[in-house]
Amino acid sequence: MDSFATKNTEFFAKEALVYDDPAKCFLTKVIADNILKFDVLNQKDGDVVSNDDSVVYTSEDVDIQFSGEIDVSPLWKNKDLRVMDFACGTGLVSRNIVPHCKSLLGIDISPQMVEFFKTKFTGNPNVQAKVIDILTSDQVPEDVHDFDITVCSLAFHHMEDPASVASTLSSRTLKPLGWLFVADIDSEGAGGFHDAQTDEDAVKSGVAHKNGFSASFMISTLKRAGLQNVCVHRNISLEMYVPKKRYCRVPGQTEDKTKIAPNGETLYAKTFSIFVAAGQKPASS
Ligand SMILES: C[S@@+](CC[C@H](N)C(=O)[O-])C[C@H]1O[C@@H](n2cnc3c(N)ncnc32)[C@H](O)[C@@H]1O
Repeated sequence: MDSFATKNTEFFAKEALVYDDPAKCFLTKVIADNILKFDVLNQKDGDVVSNDDSVVYTSEDVDIQFSGEIDVSPLWKNKDLRVMDFACGTGLVSRNIVPHCKSLLGIDISPQMVEFFKTKFTGNPNVQAKVIDILTSDQVPEDVHDFDITVCSLAFHHMEDPASVASTLSSRTLKPLGWLFVADIDSEGAGGFHDAQTDEDAVKSGVAHKNGFSASFMISTLKRAGLQNVCVHRNISLEMYVPKKRYCRVPGQTEDKTKIAPNGETLYAKTFSIFVAAGQKPASS
């Protein structure tokens, strides 16, 4: 494990204990929903689709927004899919994807995250999780190859070198014609997720908290990783209530929107946008 991965492991050992809060459950539902609905088979290479600014998912009506059946895209209508959730964390995205595939393997470098993942799927032999660093290990186990789909949610902005992560995911985890989906913070959308951190700060602390990526960065990154039919769905805007320490005020904003949680804590409405980027491994590469 390199020093960056070691720092991430230390950081997420603590995060695992508090990760599954209502805001994160909401955010990962939105992410999974948009991965499942993105009609990648009907996009052209280089396409960027963008939500209208007026469309905002809000954590206030999460149960209404996600009450019905998800109308998944044609790609996900094939229920025989083998899926990998790279940097799976506690399995919040996985649990929304599992009903739409045959089997799912979560992998993560944090043993604590993987422990929480496993408790969600006890008794389901089709869902497994492993602690493994596929970015640096020389050898990747047999069952960590040839996935139809690899998803990676909210992890690229913690990585030292997202471009090399994309290449490794493409070459090591996907079968020919398999798809990679990356969901993360849209750096060109409204609001902010983490407070701004320079690349220098990230290297110093060892835990990158990049404030997301642009659609053009994602297109070029996935293309350089050797993927084809690369496309991005961006400006998927959210408003969710978080404790003060996880709040970022939007530049120019003067007033905070708050609500009181059932435990009496003041929560702040945080607005930001995410994207889902996708690319397909060529038939022969
Ligand atoms: C913000 S969490 C996202 C978890 C999950 N994907 C989600 O959307 O809820 C980032 C995750 O990336 C994992 N991670 C960081 N570096 C990694 C690496 N090199 N390989 C695998 N997982 C890694 C962390 O341990 C953590 O679980």
